[in-house]
Amino acid sequence: MLAIPVLTAALALVLCLVMGFLVARSHLTKTSADPRGGPTRPWVDQDLQDDSEAMSKEHEDDEWDDSDKGENVTYVPYSPERLPEEQMVRASKRFYASMNQRRSVRFISPEPVPWEVIENVVRTAGTAPSGAHTEPWTFVAVSDPDMKHRIRLIVEEEEEVNYRQRMGAKWVKDLAAFRTNWIKEYLDVAPYLILIFKQTYGILPDNKKRTHYYNEISVSIACGILLAALQNVGLVTVTSTPLNCGPKLRKLLQRPANEKLLLLLPVGYPAKDATVPDLKRKPLHDILLRI
Ligand SMILES: Cc1cc2nc3c(=O)[nH]c(=O)nc-3n(C[C@H](O)[C@H](O)[C@H](O)COP(=O)(O)O)c2cc1C
Repeated sequence: MLAIPVLTAALALVLCLVMGFLVARSHLTKTSADPRGGPTRPWVDQDLQDDSEAMSKEHEDDEWDDSDKGENVTYVPYSPERLPEEQMVRASKRFYASMNQRRSVRFISPEPVPWEVIENVVRTAGTAPSGAHTEPWTFVAVSDPDMKHRIRLIVEEEEEVNYRQRMGAKWVKDLAAFRTNWIKEYLDVAPYLILIFKQTYGILPDNKKRTHYYNEISVSIACGILLAALQNVGLVTVTSTPLNCGPKLRKLLQRPANEKLLLLLPVGYPAKDATVPDLKRKPLHDILLRI
């Protein structure tokens, strides 16, 4: 007779433990997705949704390189030309005036661009600093019309889902001014698409893995320099971040699992009838503090 209440109490205890575990787990998941405890915001808090590296068997068994190469680096003199102060001021104004003309242009002319220019702007991007000089970037320049079209199909398919389902109403509202949608004609039209991949780790000739410190920051700096180099030669682009397209584009372009898509830049001359939204930039006093 005593067995039934004891069993019921034991069952209740087990149920409480299971429910407590589930509640704690859901709380932990929410906290790690968004530190403010709000709903997850994949377009703000995560990269382009390429976790294929984590799931891939590629490089899984490779060892990490822990040799110390720093000891062998020699030092060479460094003495670039030093400008007189007025010349510095003039140069800084000139460069600002040129960069202030930079705009994200979504209407790109199909006119061809010399390959040598593409090589030089990417060379320039490759001068960026990088964590422990790991240079964790790969630039893929696509001009083949068929490949550009396949890229467009992948981007448009995912972007349509992004616009219709994944983005919240607020994001769609914030983008209204830019009149963007999932149709990306410039992906067919621009003479070059430059896809920039960050290498989350390196692969050495002996197949050992090399740590790529701060790879996303390093590649982002390289991308900034690339944008400046494009502006310098009168070419335009739009910094695009095709959410959820990373794995498919990586496979299409046959890039290895340690590389993740960071940006896609359509590059060319602006179309003759190109327009841009009339945006204003923050004044200096809003962005610079002198202490
Ligand atoms: C990280 C990043 C991601 C962006 N993603 C997109 C994008 O996916 N599509 C797009 O049309 N513009 C994109 N833009 C461009 C911004 O809308 C644009 O830089 C901003 O409106 C300011 O305009 P401006 O570049 O002409 O100064 C992105 C810009 C940055 C820096």
